[in-house]
Amino acid sequence: MSNADVLSAVAELAGSAQRVAVLTGAGMSAESGISTFRDAQTGLWSTFEPADLASPDGWARDRNLVWGWYQWRAELVRRSQPNAGHLALTEWQARTHLDIATQNVDDLHERAGSTVMSHVHGSLFDPRCTECDVHSHPEPEPVDEYADRVTPPLCPYCGGDMRPGAVWFGESLPEDQWRAAVEAVESADLVVVVGTSGVVFPFAGLPAMARSAGASVVEINPVETEISDMADLRWRTTAANGLPALVAAL
Ligand code: APR
Repeated sequence: MSNADVLSAVAELAGSAQRVAVLTGAGMSAESGISTFRDAQTGLWSTFEPADLASPDGWARDRNLVWGWYQWRAELVRRSQPNAGHLALTEWQARTHLDIATQNVDDLHERAGSTVMSHVHGSLFDPRCTECDVHSHPEPEPVDEYADRVTPPLCPYCGGDMRPGAVWFGESLPEDQWRAAVEAVESADLVVVVGTSGVVFPFAGLPAMARSAGASVVEINPVETEISDMADLRWRTTAANGLPALVAAL
């Protein structure tokens, strides 16, 4: 099927969908200049060790390095803009019942004007206290290089150490965020999966859940992924090209 044929097939599904769920991964923000995790050479995990920077053990070993790395990532997001894919989702959401469940910890969907139903892996901008678990938002300390070790601020409520608001490997997802993501795919008649390699569970299990709930599944990704087999349509394009073309065709 040519990309033009896929577009018209996706537009037909989208045009008749009453409820849409859009599942996004790091590829959604790639065209905003935010590195993905597993793209060869450019992905974050090709230059950083996830176990050192995105795990409870990494935090226990060197919390200043971990806190500095997340501040550095937050600063990169602050300096970036939502791309045409984010903006297209906002336009689509204004016209249709459309729920967004994202693995991304950036705020680009929100800054594009979208409402996000679920951030299953938390947020760069929502740190919480390691003691009392309360979220607070200390003034950002912009760091230029990830190697800057930055001492995490103390919780304004109990004085405990703050930690990044992202979910780390080995940690469970926030129950309310996970439930919202499941609810989105189980009530949708169309699920569009954008920019995820589909290797991290339980999020990677959502397309299968959508299919067993009777939804059609469309994948938007330049390459084949672990969830391509789950998709009724596989659109080999990017978020910032595909989504605007789809919304324009509705
Ligand atoms: N448009 C659409 N997809 C893209 C684009 C783009 N412009 N650029 C890259 N991609 C695709 C890649 O082909 C890849 O399949 O985005 C996907 C990114 O995959 P990962 O880097 O593995 O990111 P993601 O799937 O979101 O990772 C899931 O793993 O490290 C953890 O918690 C982290 O939330 C993250 C989770």
